Amino acid sequence: MNPVILPLPGNGDMAHALARLLDGEVGEVEFRRFPDGETFVRIDAPLAGREVILACTLARPDGKFLPLAFAAATARDLGAARVGLVAPYLAYLRQDKRFHDGEGVTSIHFGRLLSACADWLVTVDPHLHRHRDLSAVYTIPCAVAHAAPLLSAWIRRHVPSPLVIGPDSESEQWVSAVAKQAGAPYVVLEKQRLGDREVRVSLPPTSHQGRTPVLVDDIVSTARTMIEAVRRLQEAGYAPPFCVGVHGLFAEGAYDALREAGVAAIATCTTVAHPSNAIDVAPLLAQAVGQLGSAALSKDPAG
Ligand code: R5P
Repeated sequence: MNPVILPLPGNGDMAHALARLLDGEVGEVEFRRFPDGETFVRIDAPLAGREVILACTLARPDGKFLPLAFAAATARDLGAARVGLVAPYLAYLRQDKRFHDGEGVTSIHFGRLLSACADWLVTVDPHLHRHRDLSAVYTIPCAVAHAAPLLSAWIRRHVPSPLVIGPDSESEQWVSAVAKQAGAPYVVLEKQRLGDREVRVSLPPTSHQGRTPVLVDDIVSTARTMIEAVRRLQEAGYAPPFCVGVHGLFAEGAYDALREAGVAAIATCTTVAHPSNAIDVAPLLAQAVGQLGSAALSKDPAG
């Protein structure tokens, strides 16, 4: 039977896109706060025996987690055969080791919490540095969609004679793939993070000043990485760069600060709803759900 897609607040567009692409239907879910701040949830859709997909991107996750956990538990109570989660941005992957004594390794803790809510997970380009893949963090089947080909296609379409620029040496493999498919050369910056909102970036010697720089990154949060890179490019005599990010989280003031830094344009993927969205990942998500969903569906839910 076709899946029922349940949108968490703010995820309606994604839910409708998935419903179109997966031949499913969007179910009604009501969320509200009781006067004491607790969460009320009510699902108004027949779920018995159905494959249920929760649509919930996880930027700014703290306020989203409990409603998501309650929606998943309610869907199970109402007889869903399985409850999957499509979270195009997956939070809490950056604290992937104990950098200082006493710190929580929240990537692991969040992975455990989410694994207890859903039967499977689909996401886009999770920020994996020290964890080799999501199975190091999640105990449920996960499928990862990769936005690189979409980024390359966007660059080919919008940027004349591009030079692709990655934020740091760790990004080289990914950046080189984006550049190759965009038919462009690439360079990677050297980056040192000094604090949450302080980074130092240096541009290696380049000889591509005739090209249009395109900064690409998986996450844009404070935008300090991109802003510092814009400055180095200005100093080196480059034209205003295009900024392309997969997940545009944009902390308070970050988007305006990046625009004011002197960029040609900012484009992000629809993994996090934002005015800079220009690259639609819904087809990627649907494809990943199709792959994972058919594998999951081939198993007996009871077994
Ligand atoms: C770091 O490893 C990531 O790839 C990004 O470069 C980083 O998250 C960007 O953060 P911000 O926008 O705060 O500089």
